[in-house]
Amino acid sequence: MARIHNFSAGPAVLPEEVLLEAARDLPDYQGKGLSVMEMSHRSAAFGDIMAQAEADLRQLADIPEDYALLFLQGGAHTQFSMVPMNLVRNGKADFVLTGHWAQKAMDEAGRFLDARAVASSEGTGYDRIPDLKGLNIRPEADYVHICENNTIFGTQFHTLPDTGGVPLVGDLSSDIFSRPLDVRQYGLIYAGTQKNLGIAGLTLVIVRKDLVREDLPGTVPLMLGYHTHLKAGSRYNTPPTFSIYMTGLVARWLLSGGGLAGAAQRNERKARLLYETLDESPLFKARVQEDSRSLMNVVFSTGDQALDERFVKGAEARGLSGLKGYRTVGGMRASLYNALPYDSVVALRDYIKEFEGEHPC
Ligand SMILES: Cc1ncc(COP(=O)(O)O)c(C=O)c1O
Repeated sequence: MARIHNFSAGPAVLPEEVLLEAARDLPDYQGKGLSVMEMSHRSAAFGDIMAQAEADLRQLADIPEDYALLFLQGGAHTQFSMVPMNLVRNGKADFVLTGHWAQKAMDEAGRFLDARAVASSEGTGYDRIPDLKGLNIRPEADYVHICENNTIFGTQFHTLPDTGGVPLVGDLSSDIFSRPLDVRQYGLIYAGTQKNLGIAGLTLVIVRKDLVREDLPGTVPLMLGYHTHLKAGSRYNTPPTFSIYMTGLVARWLLSGGGLAGAAQRNERKARLLYETLDESPLFKARVQEDSRSLMNVVFSTGDQALDERFVKGAEARGLSGLKGYRTVGGMRASLYNALPYDSVVALRDYIKEFEGEHPC
């Protein structure tokens, strides 16, 4: 099987073992004579798949009983509005801005409540997590929102802000379950599974149950109320069955590889190799300040657009795929999610060295 080195920002690389298991199961899931895709979401067989996936995800992050784990659809984009719709009480929310995704979450929330930035790194081109000391969080705010890992700018929170008891909401779309996660530090976490935990189509929401309101205004569609999905065990309507099955397989794979501590060790090793290569390089430069660097998305460039384009083209020719930076940032971005093998980063390091040799400064 010839597989490329897949640095895609998402949907992204899956563990080969998981793909092979899914392929084996595809026409006939465990001797039942049908595939998971053909099963009723109300069948006992699918009920078992979903219950096992939930149990494994709960075990991985030690999710306490007073937190619900919901299997939803609509991606993080739907959460940008579901969060304010469901958490609004006093009509205020505070945001730490780290660029595109954090801004989008704030803009969307601003359609439902008074959304305000309490910190931003816009002034330095989002090359860092802003200073989190002495944030002017409104004590009556309904929540404080962060994007824990900014996929586009390549920044990641390594410590969480002190919100003084205001529930913290995290968009973990690009770093969920890539390292140990203390769920209790959050009131609510949301993430699509298509980067670290499976395929597109499934959005995980982990929410403290006391934040789930039943008395939402009648203008909130039932489908967009957390209470609807909590009461229905994530089967209010047809859930994304195959995506849930795939996330279950990835959860199993993570458990067998030492859980989230094991994942963190592998992810740190990959990121260390790449950042060290960039820091030693006379040609390439990592975009983000050292203390804010993402272990998931490494953004870098030569500072010369034409040279960056040549690098990406040469990379593709060598089977190093998905390295083109986000369109508004340019340069390169290497996404090193859970399933990316260490060997892929070694191959990228070797190509960086080769390219440097061919383009002396
Ligand atoms: C941090 C972050 N938030 C939100 C999104 C949007 O996610 P979705 O496309 O699942 O709505 C992305 C997508 O890449 C992301 O990386």
